[in-house]
Amino acid sequence: MIAENTYQKLKDKLAKVVPDVELRQKAAIADEVLALKAERNAVILAHNYMEPALFYSVPDYVGDSLELSRKAAACEQDVIVFCGVRFMAETAKILSPHKTVLLPARKAGCSLAASITAEDVRKLKAQFPGVPVVTYVNTYADVKAESDICCTSSNASAVVESLGTETVIFLPDEYLAKNTARETGKHIISPTRRPSAAYDTDIDYQLVGWHGRCEVHEQFTVEDIENARRQFPDVMVLAHPECSPEVVAAADYSGSTTAMIKYVQDNPAPHYLILTECAMGDNIAAENPDKEMLRLCSIRCPHMNEITLEDTREALRQNRYVIEVPEDIRQRAYRAVKRMIEINAKD
Ligand code: 13P
Ligand code: SF4
Repeated sequence: MIAENTYQKLKDKLAKVVPDVELRQKAAIADEVLALKAERNAVILAHNYMEPALFYSVPDYVGDSLELSRKAAACEQDVIVFCGVRFMAETAKILSPHKTVLLPARKAGCSLAASITAEDVRKLKAQFPGVPVVTYVNTYADVKAESDICCTSSNASAVVESLGTETVIFLPDEYLAKNTARETGKHIISPTRRPSAAYDTDIDYQLVGWHGRCEVHEQFTVEDIENARRQFPDVMVLAHPECSPEVVAAADYSGSTTAMIKYVQDNPAPHYLILTECAMGDNIAAENPDKEMLRLCSIRCPHMNEITLEDTREALRQNRYVIEVPEDIRQRAYRAVKRMIEINAKD
């Protein structure tokens, strides 16, 4: 009976996106996940990038990094299963240290999180004493622990402005740093891997050697946008703020994953080009059958794609992979994450 309900629920959303035979298979696995979830008193938090059958079946909450951090801080269950990447599961553990936090895939990394170490941050603080450090949540706990405050794609400008200083160090995403410098007008000491391009001359930022970029979003180009506009002159282009400033400037809208989902829901336009992980385009298409989503599916996040319904079932069955954060690091990282959450609570 439960299986039929889950199948029906998936069919209502995904009949045009996923073949029926696969929907039946996925519904059966989803039911096993739901039974294990109840048995273990678990909550499932899933990022907007999860593939459609997972996204629309087992999560208690879906959202962007900030929304999921808030849920992780507030949920009451004993176990949090995080269908996302490692830094997100770690953030949940930082906020809820007494809960068991499970990540369904052993690795599920992130090119941004891998781009920086705690030692890198310590060196920058020594180079720029007294300048506050804002760190994107797409980092590991030891890096957060060296930071004054964290931010996500949905609150980066609000966080920078909350500090009340003219200069901030913003790590580790070169593009998010530049997009935030443009939005806030602040002097941002930011990472870069190339000399300042002509385009950048009106942004007030200072370059330090770095290599932080999202391996997915750095691939989208202004040419991709121009091609789509030639084919569909009425297309609305949405770009995540991890895209280059040139791409963001050429787009109609830039925002966090949830902000992009809302933008499509609230806008009457018939065609959208979604410049972010492709699975989210499928999820938006399922929710908006009257609108067409163009997406560049040759560009995928290999880390987010590691999380499947099957792995989620095994995570609950085998209690794996348990996320741990050393307590001294957790306490320092907690301050930076909590400070971010509190700022946005006032918005
Ligand atoms: P959001 O916080 O906008 O969901 O972004 C997370 C992410 O990893 C984007 O690549
Ligand atoms: Fe990291 Fe980019 Fe994947 Fe997001 S899309 S998890 S920033 S590699």
